[in-house]
Amino acid sequence: MKVVVTRQLPNEIIEMLSNRYEEVVVWEKEDEPIPRERLLREIVDADGLLTNLTDKIDKELLSQATKLKVVSTLAVGFDNIDVVEAKKRGIQVGHTPGVLTEATADLTFALLLATSRRLVEGMDVIRENRWTSWGPFLLTGQQVHGATIGIIGMGRIGMSVAKRAKGFSMNILYHNRTRHLEAEEEFDATYCSMDDLLEQSDFVVLLVPSTKETHKMIGTAEFERMKKTAVFINTSRGTNVDEDALYKALESQSIYAAGLDVFEEEPISASHPLLKLNNITVLPHVGSASIQTRLQMAKLAVDNTICGLEGKTLIHEVK
Ligand code: DGY
Repeated sequence: MKVVVTRQLPNEIIEMLSNRYEEVVVWEKEDEPIPRERLLREIVDADGLLTNLTDKIDKELLSQATKLKVVSTLAVGFDNIDVVEAKKRGIQVGHTPGVLTEATADLTFALLLATSRRLVEGMDVIRENRWTSWGPFLLTGQQVHGATIGIIGMGRIGMSVAKRAKGFSMNILYHNRTRHLEAEEEFDATYCSMDDLLEQSDFVVLLVPSTKETHKMIGTAEFERMKKTAVFINTSRGTNVDEDALYKALESQSIYAAGLDVFEEEPISASHPLLKLNNITVLPHVGSASIQTRLQMAKLAVDNTICGLEGKTLIHEVK
C-alpha cells in the first residue's frame, strides 16, 4: 500500500503509517504545501491520502487516483475536498472534529479579548517607545464582562465559546439553522433571528462551516445592522465574509473592530488593505494550533487513514 502525506508531521505520527505500510511518501518541505503537479503525480498509484486544508482535492485529482480508498484531512473543515465526487468513486473522506473544539474556542475568545481590549496596539505602544505615561483613557476598549455576545452557528465550537462567555457573565444570543436546546438550558442562550442578533450584540462571532449557503453571508447589509461599538470575530472560514464590505465597515468605523483568524485568500498578502487598519487584529489561521490539539488531530487523521485502508468505517467520516 502507498500512502501520501502532504505535510511534514512529527516522527511518531509518520511511524504510525510507516510501521504498517510499504510506502509512505511525505512532502519534504516543512512550511510549504505540496505543489499541485507533485501531488497529481503521487496520487496516481496511492491507496491513501493524508491531506490538509491547503490542498485542493477536486475532480481532476480524484479522477487520476484510481487506487485511492481514503482521503483523510487534518482539519474539521473539508471545503477543499470535492466530497460528492470522492463518494461517487467509492473513496471515504475523513476529518477531525471534536478534538479541536476547546482549542478553537480558546483562540476565538483570545481574539475577542485581544480585539476589544486592544492588546496588540498596547504592545506596539511599548515596543515603539510611545508609552509616555499612564493615562485615564489610554487604550480604552470595549468591555467584555456582562456584554452581549451573538454566536452565529451553534455547533460544537459555538457551544464551547458560549461556555466561556458564560464565565464572563455575558448575555448570549445565537442564530443557527435549528434551535439548540442544550445551549439554551446550559448557558441561558437565547435563539434569535439573524437581524436581531446583529442589532443587539456587542460581539458578533461567526462559527459556521464554509458552504454555498454561507458564502459571503456577512456583507454590507449585515455590517450595517451591527452596533457602532460592535466587535466582529471570525474563526470559521474567510469565504463566509465579504472582505470589501468588512473593510468599508471598519474604515468608516460603522463597527468598532474585527478580529480575524481566517481570510478569503490564505495567506493574506501583507499589502492587503485590511491590514492597514488600526481597528483589526489578525492571526494566520491558528484556531486549533495548540501543540496538544494538533497532535490529537494528526493522530485522528492517521487513524482515519488506517481505517479507510483497511476497509473499516472511519472514526470521523464526512457525512
Ligand atoms: C479546521 O480544522 O478546519 C481548521 O480550520 C484548522 O484547524
